[in-house]
Amino acid sequence: MAAASGGLVRSAEWQRVRDFAQEVRAAPAALAIQGEAGAGKSTLWRAGLEVAAAAGHRLLRSEPSASETDLSFAGLSDLLAEVLPLVAARIPGPQLEALEVALLLRPAGEEPPTAHAIGLAMLAALRGCLSQHPVLIAVDDVQWLDDATLEAMTFALRRVSGGPLSLLVAARTEAVADPLTVGAPPPSRAWQELLAAMPEAAVMDLVPLDMWQVQNLLPPDVTAAQARQVARQSRGNPFWALQISASLEDAENPLPPLARTPGPRTRQPASSLRRRSSSLPARTSPDWSAAGSARVSCCSWPATSRGHWNSSRSSTRASWPPRTWSECCRCCST
Ligand SMILES: Nc1ncnc2c1ncn2[C@@H]1O[C@H](COP(=O)(O)OP(=O)(O)O)[C@@H](O)[C@H]1O
Ligand SMILES: [Mg+2]
Repeated sequence: MAAASGGLVRSAEWQRVRDFAQEVRAAPAALAIQGEAGAGKSTLWRAGLEVAAAAGHRLLRSEPSASETDLSFAGLSDLLAEVLPLVAARIPGPQLEALEVALLLRPAGEEPPTAHAIGLAMLAALRGCLSQHPVLIAVDDVQWLDDATLEAMTFALRRVSGGPLSLLVAARTEAVADPLTVGAPPPSRAWQELLAAMPEAAVMDLVPLDMWQVQNLLPPDVTAAQARQVARQSRGNPFWALQISASLEDAENPLPPLARTPGPRTRQPASSLRRRSSSLPARTSPDWSAAGSARVSCCSWPATSRGHWNSSRSSTRASWPPRTWSECCRCCST
């Protein structure tokens, strides 16, 4: 989780997550950490959970994977499994029965439980938790949450009017030519319904690391020149920076620079998320099983030999460090 130096880079983002995670607030609020694969979402999300736990919050947590997107209520099961015995007495009988059937804790009757009953049960469970502790609902890779869970959570979150409730999610955004996700469908955005259900919600985009952040991320024996090279070739992506730096010694087998196709990247203010699900695109069920096997490059190795980010060409190139992923990619598109 931590950088080689023992701490986290992205200190401003970390401070925001930490403040959010440890605050005990009167009204429900949400924070979404958004970025492409390897940008550092899970790192901040996990650190936020540690802080919330230390502050005495009850954690309802799920980390769905791509292969579980079609498993109904897999996420709800993660979120509630631990607390259900503690709050079961507060859930009305028919709702508890429906929830237990959904979570495969009791056999189904003749009629399958309705989404309405399960949503009400989730709401009662949440209220039960909130009567005892501040609650943090935390979902990493929320783009892979199954639809049934999403529906039950949205129903419940719309109706929890008060109480110290926070929602912290990490969500993957598209990186069209990223070697990890090339060829995969764009990540689902249906999770934004969760933010829309909360009275207060914000999105924090993880932009590329700058040169100094990359240098802090890498082991201390990496020279400034090497760090500069890694920063260029990773395009400020921490995952790739670490991968590339690990191959610095391996001159026989250099990694190609990370290529990305520029695309629109807009930050959505919290207010723009306050729309109903009807305006959201249809949910897809991505299959990332092949992720990581493909290598795509639109820059040739080494990047410096093409003059990328070379100061003598700076008038026609983007400045370093890039402020956005798409700006970062201008070297590949010009
Ligand atoms: N803020 C950070 N400080 C230190 N290391 C980081 C940071 N963000 C990411 N990393 C490193 O990069 C790797 C990828 O980060 P991760 O959080 O898994 O990305 P994501 O969840 O966005 O795919 C991590 O294993 C971690 O080593
Ligand atoms: Mg992650």
